[in-house]
Amino acid sequence: MPADEFVVTPYEVRGKVDYDRLRELFGTQELSAELLARLRSLAGGELHPLLSRGIYYSHRDLAPLLEAHAAGAPFFVYSGRGPSGPLHLSHLAQFDLCRWFQERLHVPMYIQITDDEKFWSRAGLTREETLRWGLENLYDILALGFEPKRTHVFFDSRSIAALYPLAIRVARKITYSSVKAVFGLEPSANIGWIFYTALQTVPCFWPSWAEGKTVRCLIPCGIDQDPHFRLTRDIAEGLGYPKPALLHSRMIPGLLGEAAMSTTGSSEDSALFLNDPPKTVERKVRNAFTGGRASVEEQRRLGANPEICSIWALWRSRFADSDEQLARLTADCRSGALLCGDCKGQLLERIHAFYRTHAERREKAKEWAESAIVTEAPRPV
Ligand code: TRP
Repeated sequence: MPADEFVVTPYEVRGKVDYDRLRELFGTQELSAELLARLRSLAGGELHPLLSRGIYYSHRDLAPLLEAHAAGAPFFVYSGRGPSGPLHLSHLAQFDLCRWFQERLHVPMYIQITDDEKFWSRAGLTREETLRWGLENLYDILALGFEPKRTHVFFDSRSIAALYPLAIRVARKITYSSVKAVFGLEPSANIGWIFYTALQTVPCFWPSWAEGKTVRCLIPCGIDQDPHFRLTRDIAEGLGYPKPALLHSRMIPGLLGEAAMSTTGSSEDSALFLNDPPKTVERKVRNAFTGGRASVEEQRRLGANPEICSIWALWRSRFADSDEQLARLTADCRSGALLCGDCKGQLLERIHAFYRTHAERREKAKEWAESAIVTEAPRPV
């Protein structure tokens, strides 16, 4: 693949992604300073770091959703996870942002765990595995601090009775040719995979259906998921529901310099899994790709390049305490004052501390995870 080419789909992220170009290709809107300011004032205080540090950078129809909210109209946040293995750090971003919306604006959260999707789309996985990882991943997600009273889970294989009456309607509106055009499925693709996008659509409309009134939907997600929701948005109004709004993030780069922290087709060492023991975390961080120079002397003299550094990306997305701290670290990196080994050492301390707290919160989340799973439809049709 030529150096300036890239591929971003829900099933593949490859090449050196030009995120502005991707936004143009997908036809999404830029997350402007003005819109961020509006969000800041609605949320009553600081923006979430993922917003203020530009990791979320694109959207669809966020402005009308915020306007409606300011006028008293309800909305909810929705995001999901296809369980193919343990979660890694970059999977948390979309849920971190959802949690922030819940805390600041007191909105309900709907989480979808797609144990069916991954079974259909990943040849090597067994049903036992997707079911098991689905639960394990759910504990990690809930551990981020969602409110039990306002948090609902669609665990596809276990929530199908709740989802199916609406899936029937959705599936009739989505044509084979539009799925083919959006996902470019091979002729050998199984029909589960072809149908799946209907199930990812259902949660967007489910609260409106359940409550019998319009409840808008906001989806924080990686921009790779946008193709699914283009199909959703095309059919929403035909079913009498508002189009969901989206907030898109860049992908968090892999530790070995890949476009995205991912496990498909790359090394285990490109991602920090939440179940990695401290020694493994240490090894992966120590071996991670940076924007550093070949020698200490050269780095002191010329400085390093944070833009291409996988370690800097981690500071930016989660571990810097404040935007000021990130700015200081970035300046010290560029000037050559901060060397990669020291930077990695400081980051490791924070990652270890995060993993320790996370493990405790995860145990607590297990206590209420089952009760959050939605199993019944509000009505039969
Ligand atoms: N398809 C997503 C994945 O592969 C899972 C998912 C389901 C999702 N619903 C979602 C992701 C809503 C973002 C938003 O992980």
